[in-house]
Amino acid sequence: MNTTTEVPSVRGLEVRPPVGMEELACRRLLPEIARQGYWADFAIAVDGPPLRILGALAYTPGVHESGRRGWRVSFRVAYPYRRQGVGSALLQYAIDAGRRCGLDALQTSHDPINELEVSPFLTKRGFQPDDRLSTYEIDAGPLTEFMCSIRDWLAERGEIPADIRLVPLCESSLNEVARMHVEYIGGTQAAVLAHLRRVVAGPTADDNRVLLVGNQIVGVHLGETKEGISRTDITFIKADFQGKSTQSGWAQAVLLAHSLERIRGLGVARARFSCLSTNRPMMRLVARLKATPIAVEQIHLLPLGDSGDTALRSNSDNRRSRTASVSHLI
Ligand SMILES: CC(C)(COP(=O)(O)OP(=O)(O)OC[C@H]1O[C@@H](n2cnc3c(N)ncnc32)[C@H](O)[C@@H]1OP(=O)(O)O)[C@@H](O)C(=O)NCCC(=O)NCCS
Repeated sequence: MNTTTEVPSVRGLEVRPPVGMEELACRRLLPEIARQGYWADFAIAVDGPPLRILGALAYTPGVHESGRRGWRVSFRVAYPYRRQGVGSALLQYAIDAGRRCGLDALQTSHDPINELEVSPFLTKRGFQPDDRLSTYEIDAGPLTEFMCSIRDWLAERGEIPADIRLVPLCESSLNEVARMHVEYIGGTQAAVLAHLRRVVAGPTADDNRVLLVGNQIVGVHLGETKEGISRTDITFIKADFQGKSTQSGWAQAVLLAHSLERIRGLGVARARFSCLSTNRPMMRLVARLKATPIAVEQIHLLPLGDSGDTALRSNSDNRRSRTASVSHLI
């Protein structure tokens, strides 16, 4: 009996924006972007006739930890069509489009343990390893106590303004939150706004909180509590309120302590968060509270031009100042 599986050969490969229901096919091929609901741009790899869907690419504006802007990209080729140039064609589509937009770089992340083929592919295409984003789980109790002790200490020192308020996302200006998301995390205004509208209409809307000083939004915490675990997806703080050598970072402490106190009040036992390996304050916290690693993503960068090549190489001071206060924190 012949057990050899015939590889379907690719003929007439085309990479183009999806039409109609093809966007749904792209989303199905790229489940990793599902939680980051603000990704809104896609390309699809097809051949035929008859038309076959071979792979998909998603991309969105993103802000690198160094502060430079590029695109985050995610792509996948369906198993039967691999090693026939489909992945390279998808990537080339992103590179060409990125260059036309004058971007500094493309950034992608993958699971280095379960997606072993990605790293050789990226290396062949000129990407450089950049950082690792690890996801941890931890008992919510000790984490809450720790963050609340920092917040209370800052309050005793008089660092926290009297006119702060913490409100659910639905009670704040979604337009302004979206604008800040675009500035500090990425996405486009329209796509982020559409995502936020879905979040506030959903069953876990109340898990998303906004910190105000007077009427000014200074911090946002986006996440979800599900099956006894409170997951933080994104936290960002307005630049003037971020912790730096001359400023304590009270806004971050207040926002996180409040979110944690709230989930503890609801009886949630576990918290889940992600942090970059270069984020030293967070890595110290992970070690101190013995957080359990549950997943890791390897991040790669492809500089697209002269400015990108130098700008996106790790400038450790620049990187640290952002990671200490912006995204990927608890
Ligand atoms: C990585 C991936 C996109 C490659 O797609 P592909 O269509 O097979 O890639 P190509 O045919 O264009 O390969 C180009 C080159 O990359 C390298 N490469 C690709 N797959 C490889 C593998 N499994 N092992 C070693 N090298 C590999 C080779 O050098 C290859 O050239 P060659 O075939 O002439 O030797 C595909 O395997 C995939 O979709 N994997 C899962 C991706 C994923 O996890 N995405 C989520 C985060 S981005």
